[in-house]
Order: sequence, then C-alpha cells, then structure tokens
Amino acid sequence: MQLSLSTWQEVDAYLERSTGIIIPIGSTEQHGPNGLIGTDAICPTRIAAGIEEKTDVLIAPTINYGMAQHHMAFAGTVTLKPSTLISLVCDVIESLQQHGFSHFYFINGHGGNIPALGTAFCELYHAASRSRSSSPRCRLANWWRNDHITALARELYGEAEGHHATVSEVALSYFAHPQAVKNVAMNPEIAPDGEIYDAIDFRRKFPDGRIGSNPALATVADGERFYQLAVEALSADYQAFITGATQ
Ligand code: NI
Repeated sequence: MQLSLSTWQEVDAYLERSTGIIIPIGSTEQHGPNGLIGTDAICPTRIAAGIEEKTDVLIAPTINYGMAQHHMAFAGTVTLKPSTLISLVCDVIESLQQHGFSHFYFINGHGGNIPALGTAFCELYHAASRSRSSSPRCRLANWWRNDHITALARELYGEAEGHHATVSEVALSYFAHPQAVKNVAMNPEIAPDGEIYDAIDFRRKFPDGRIGSNPALATVADGERFYQLAVEALSADYQAFITGATQ
C-alpha cells in the first residue's frame, strides 16, 4: 500500500491494523559513467515495493534528495545542507506521528545520509525526553550493508565491487529500470580507491565519479539477485521492528 496512492480513509483504516511505515530515502547524485543519477533513490524505492508485495505495509513517498556535497563537481547532482535534511526528516516523522504512526523504518540507499538521519532521530528522542512524551521509534536500514548482499557482491565481483557507483547498486538500479541500462567502457577498468573530503577533492581523485568499482559488470540479472536478497532481509527486519509496536 502506497501513501501517495491511498485516500485518507484508507490510511485511517491502515492505522487500525498497524502504526508502522516504511520511508525510502536516497540521493540525486552522479554514479559514474554508466550509473544513473537516481541510483540511490531507485534502489530503496524498488526494495520497498518488493516488501509491499509480500507484507501489509504502508510505503511513504521516497525522499529523493540527500547529502551529496562531495558529488557537486559533476553535472546533475543536487545536495541538501545537513541541517535541511535533518529538518526534512524530523518534519516527515512528526507529521506522520500526529496521525498515529509510531514506527518509522527508513530504507536508505546512500551512505552520505547516515549521519544526518541519526542526528534527526536524536533530535526527536531528545525533544520527547525533555517533554516527558513518547518518542517515535525509528530504524535505519542501509540496504547494501547486509551480510548476504556483501557476500554476493564479493562472490560475483571481488575487488571490483568498489565503494561508490558500486556494481551491486548499479545492477539493482538496472533491474528496476532495464530500459535505462548504459553500455560504457571503463578506463581504467577498476577505478582508484581512497578517502574523500569535498567536491574538488573528489573530482581530482576520482575523475569519472567511481570509487574502486567496475560497474561495467552490472547486469539486470545480477540486480534481481540483489533485489531478492534485500527484500527478504529487510522484510524480516521490518517485521522484527514492528513487533515492538505492541510491546
Ligand atoms: Ni550510490
């Protein structure tokens, strides 16, 4: 069940059954020569849709923008300020909480969002503790940080999986949008690896936008395998999380 395709009466009825909601969050940022700029939002959106197919759960609209300052030297990237993202996440949770939602399960597609999401949750817990009210229950699920996902990526690609524009995320985005697959030769085959600080630093060290990866290996078929693993793992994790709603 998707929030954007529901009526308010349907949401009222859902709240009688459950007070949990899944919120996909990503980023709009470059993903190398063959990766889609929407990759980080496309992957959690598709995974959430897969969970929805097998679970009675409400899916909120995807938060498509995130923390992407380090990609700003590449055309098409859009970044929020950390303070904007923290405020956005707090406003979304507080709005839904007012209607009776209690458990907020974020499926995240972008590592750069993790500090701001954690801070947003802390802001809400802090406000609740100071006012002696009940805080929302928030969980952050970073889909790619899962033992089954990393094991499959290692098995399929070894070192070529990399750290940005990874083969697994490009593959999953291709599974979600096979009409958008790009065939691009990579040079060098595997991109350099290392630390990043800001946009200029990133572009100088990683001129085509990849970090440590060879996403030319990404296929729709592999993407489906990552998708299925992620849906299975996150469905179970969501169920465990939402069980806390009755405790
Ligand atoms: Ni990404």
